Amino acid sequence: MKKLITLVSICSLFTYHLSLFADEGMWIPILLNKNIEQMQKMGLKLTAEDIYSINQSSLKDAIVRFGRGCTGELVSPKGLLLTNHHCGYGVIQRHSSLEHDYLTDGYWAQSLDEELPNPGLNVTFMIRMEDVTDRVLEGVTPDMSEQSRSAVIKKNSKAVVDEAEKDTHYDAYVRSFYHGNQYFLIVTEIFKDIRFVGAPPSGIGKFGGDTDNWMWPRHTGDFSVFRVYADSNNQPAVYSKDNVPYKPKYYLPISLGGYNEGDFTLLFGNPGRTHEYLPSFAVELITIKENPVKIGLRQKRLDVIKNATMKNRLVRIQYSSKHARISNYWKKMIGETRGIKRADGVVKKQEFEKKFQAWAESLDGDQAGYATILPQFKKLYGERYPISLAAIYLREAGMAPELYRFSRSANNLIKQSGDKKTSDEALAAETENLMKTARSFYKNYQPAIDREITTLMMEEMWNNMYKEYMPDIFARIAKKHKGDIPAYVDDLFRKSIFVDSTRFYAFLDNYKRNKGKKLRADPVYQLFLSIANRYNQDIIPEGRRITSAIDSLQRIYMLALMKMQPDKQFYPDANSTMRVCYGQVDDFHPADAVTYEYFTTAQGILEKEDSTIYDYAVEKRLKDLISACNYGRYADDDGQLHVGFISTIHSTGGNSGAPVLNGEGELIGINFDRNWEGTMSDLMYDPDQCRNIILDIRYLLFIMDKYAGATWLVEEMDIR
Ligand code: ARG
Ligand code: ASP
Repeated sequence: MKKLITLVSICSLFTYHLSLFADEGMWIPILLNKNIEQMQKMGLKLTAEDIYSINQSSLKDAIVRFGRGCTGELVSPKGLLLTNHHCGYGVIQRHSSLEHDYLTDGYWAQSLDEELPNPGLNVTFMIRMEDVTDRVLEGVTPDMSEQSRSAVIKKNSKAVVDEAEKDTHYDAYVRSFYHGNQYFLIVTEIFKDIRFVGAPPSGIGKFGGDTDNWMWPRHTGDFSVFRVYADSNNQPAVYSKDNVPYKPKYYLPISLGGYNEGDFTLLFGNPGRTHEYLPSFAVELITIKENPVKIGLRQKRLDVIKNATMKNRLVRIQYSSKHARISNYWKKMIGETRGIKRADGVVKKQEFEKKFQAWAESLDGDQAGYATILPQFKKLYGERYPISLAAIYLREAGMAPELYRFSRSANNLIKQSGDKKTSDEALAAETENLMKTARSFYKNYQPAIDREITTLMMEEMWNNMYKEYMPDIFARIAKKHKGDIPAYVDDLFRKSIFVDSTRFYAFLDNYKRNKGKKLRADPVYQLFLSIANRYNQDIIPEGRRITSAIDSLQRIYMLALMKMQPDKQFYPDANSTMRVCYGQVDDFHPADAVTYEYFTTAQGILEKEDSTIYDYAVEKRLKDLISACNYGRYADDDGQLHVGFISTIHSTGGNSGAPVLNGEGELIGINFDRNWEGTMSDLMYDPDQCRNIILDIRYLLFIMDKYAGATWLVEEMDIR
């Protein structure tokens, strides 16, 4: 049997992926000259200069980082911006209440006046990028300690950044690429008045919910619409009612032409983190040891929330965003571990490492040291295991109670209350701050859910953590409650003033500094302190020591890999900088005899419909529109309304909301997810299994136009 499996996996290499081109990689926009020939062979009609240029407007001027972790693109001369529904989710939720439930019902501004401001939400354009490696590494020597090296790099980077920002309103930063082997300066412009224009109801924007998340076939209309505002000089400004729609340097034309299998696709976005060059020890640690623990802990929290949200509509509004946040990476990790096992990822890395070791041992002179890299990795990852396990329990269990985070926000007030130097005014201002935090916290809080989760998480820590990393609160629980955790948690929720909004507001009303002691002594605050102290005092410093040793070794390993394979074109791991990724529209085979087609249609929404399951409820209006097949110009040549499609683009978190373009540089879809079988692409991309999931732009326009009647928005765009 074993033999047979090996045989299958070898053969599959030849039978499945017939593509002539490598799709793996996230490329640096200013270095596309190296890829452009291949991209053009695959179907790109643009030049590298059309994609990134500092001399003329180019694609990059239409792309932004949306908020902290997503991508967005401009699609009109009036600053109209598209991103995912799940990227706008927090904003939509903040504008929602039982009376105006925009999450459930959707929202569409009818005019500029109805576009809603969002303090704190920014979008960031990239103005330019520059290789500054020589300047950043000036004065760095091979025999330097890691500490001195970092100090020199920090100082040099600061000089580079200061120079770039001087006399401008730009924000600049320097980022390391290829694990510290190359450095780029990135100059950005941040817009701060971003208004919410519209979003479909969750039944469309989150259709399939967490059940379909990370899965193909998919029928989610995962989009939301915003607008960038600027001052009267078209410059970034904080919100003012006098601001006007921003006139972008470039905005994306939209194609209604669709795509065929094999067509070129290009994604320009903001990928967060990948780890393609890790040694086998790391991949094994992450997928076999760490992921399962995190998955188990998250599963317990999700079960509690799911149970409560099923029974109550208010609770569902309050906890939907929290549930999505926990569940997203829970599911991702399950897919990642499975994918690595299925692809024999650890073994493949080990086999490669044998070759690497043989090569390294053949070297002499300065490079002779390469032969010690892998043994050192092995030792370091061995040392990291207990500490990372403790970190996982503290973060995923200890910090899981919602009261943990909330009580942390009392930190400043407690500190200031005990400090005679704090003026009465400052104290009053801080009290008001905490009051604000409290109001937004209680808006979405159910103590019963939190109590159940707290109990479960404390039990997990108690039963599974190495004793030496256990927060000291457990010694007190052992003594006072004879180790009975439910009894401790009941006591906690009975006594703490953080639990109950009425008590908490009453306590903060005419707050005096002598109340600081009471706040500090509160059992929830004490729990927070115990966990935070353990984490900050024991885990962080030790973790840092190992991480820093691993990082510097990874830098050398990366360099060695590039020397070993001088003809291979390496791409740097994602590091939250703008990248260009490309591939082609392609189906895939997740299992023997199973093929997943490369697009889905609106008929599939009706197939999935199930009014008894929240995630699969389809509203009557949408159902009628689909049943009538009245798709107009949004239909494909096949007469169907396409909803989503997949391609071989190598993508990761942060690329959500990113535009997917055809060979002409026209927008054909919005990236929003990956297939479950391919989520291991953050550790190891496999062209047979890894696909990115894209919302078809024609479905987006259909919803905007025919479903929502927001034709005034459709008319702003350049639709071809
Ligand atoms: N998996 C996608 C990404 O990582 C979408 C997540 C949001 N959707 C959800 N159902 N939780 O961001
Ligand atoms: N859904 C992800 C995001 O939000 C994209 C991915 O991980 O593929 O960026």
